[in-house]
Amino acid sequence: MTDSTQKLVQLAIEAAQTAYAPYSNFHVGTALLLDTGEIITGSNFENASYGMTLCAETVAIAKANSDGKLRAIREIAVAGGLAGHVGKAADPITPCGRCRQIIKEVADLTDTDIPVHCAHATGYETFRLSELLPHGFGPANLK
Ligand code: THU
Repeated sequence: MTDSTQKLVQLAIEAAQTAYAPYSNFHVGTALLLDTGEIITGSNFENASYGMTLCAETVAIAKANSDGKLRAIREIAVAGGLAGHVGKAADPITPCGRCRQIIKEVADLTDTDIPVHCAHATGYETFRLSELLPHGFGPANLK
């Protein structure tokens, strides 16, 4: 466990404080580490039309893209839990299937098997995108 990764995970936990999740009460935060050292965060954004909910990872990645920094993303930290318990579950909270596909876009564009640091009660566990989404479909397949 490196200090800088622990800091990224901590920023993901803090980002969950801005979650708008009145329906599930499940708060998720994400922190993206860019190649410059800059960190971009995001949190889940729910909607009364439940299926329109945006996950924290998707919000953060779209935020990076709208700043022109999609290709600068190198690492991702994710933390989730019921309000007041973010990052406290015994098992790591990992990105949902749709978010894995969104992360795949970044992985292909940057030719990086992005590490995804997933918070749990005693720290975090790191998965590579290829572990979370083996045999995934991405932009490289369209060439
Ligand atoms: N959620 C995320 O933000 N990211 C994930 O990877 C999994 C799920 C959110 C969506 C919804 O607001 C809440 O967690 C419960 O599913």
